Amino acid sequence: MFIHQRRGWEIPERLVTPEHIARGERPTRRMLLAGAGLALLPGAAHAQFSLFGGGTPAAPPKELKPLAATRNARYDGGRPITPEHDATTYNNYYEFSDGKTLYKEAQALPLDPWSIKVTGMVKEPRTIGLEELLKKVSLEERVYRHRCVERWAMTVPWTGFPLADLVRVAEPLGSAKYVVFTTIADQKNMPGLRKSYYPWPYVDGLTIQEAMNELSFLTVGMYGKTAPPQNGAPIRLTTPWKYGFKQVKAIVEVHFTDKRPVSFWEKLASDEYGFWANVNPAVAHPRWSQATESVLGSQEVVPTKIWNGYGEFVASMYDDKKSEKLFV
Ligand code: MTE
Repeated sequence: MFIHQRRGWEIPERLVTPEHIARGERPTRRMLLAGAGLALLPGAAHAQFSLFGGGTPAAPPKELKPLAATRNARYDGGRPITPEHDATTYNNYYEFSDGKTLYKEAQALPLDPWSIKVTGMVKEPRTIGLEELLKKVSLEERVYRHRCVERWAMTVPWTGFPLADLVRVAEPLGSAKYVVFTTIADQKNMPGLRKSYYPWPYVDGLTIQEAMNELSFLTVGMYGKTAPPQNGAPIRLTTPWKYGFKQVKAIVEVHFTDKRPVSFWEKLASDEYGFWANVNPAVAHPRWSQATESVLGSQEVVPTKIWNGYGEFVASMYDDKKSEKLFV
């Protein structure tokens, strides 16, 4: 089998929050100017655009429509909400770029019309238009913390609906054990797809039990508006107790199966990224500590909490799985 030696997937190590930031030290000018250093600073995205931001957007910015949804007070982010600018201009979306400032490229992704294929172990496989799906659910707003495996964190008011509602609409067979989400692979508008060392399309999954957990959320908006393409519009997964890489963007297929899926990242590096990927400060990534996180849009570095602080909602799902690698 041909294995590409460039190991492009190692980018996340380069992009992980640098140690001096995680320790709460201010970077020196020398650090800032060293190579890609500036791009590595969570919250420095703004400064970066003014220095390097002369690139031409791939398309005009998408118009974001107001989304009426009541905030559900049960889910309190517990931290100040991240400034919208930071949450929408410092992104991970490898289909567009390995860097963070891909919001310009992402504007080219056509979002309308959008439909989702429901396949595999379901009563009746079908394709559901997003508009039709949204008529079957009610939208709410939830403020969730988000923890990336690269050690940056944000707190976002997401608008969406429980994933459990989609599972009910899909009518999985009793024998289905997992649900697998697939991102669109738009060859024309996603330049990252040309990097053949990545195992496209971007895929990840949950157990049915995790999918039915009250925290699992399908997001269509943020900050009271439809989500911008760089954050996963028109529909993405949000599972706040897991590292961000589980949270598949621009979902075009929801597949039910009895076989545990192998995710995009697990295919690339199974020794570094596993199926469960639950947040735990005590289990280091093989190449960096997970003990702390940098708060996007600020200079703050705070201790990371197990289950990203959502243990009361999710920990019991794993009581009988202690022998598994739950935190990778
Ligand atoms: N989904 C797709 N399709 N492609 C990606 O590269 N990156 C993941 C996740 N979902 C990714 C993706 C990672 S690593 C993170 S941390 C979050 O998206 C980032 O979400 P944000 O850009 O909205 O902050």
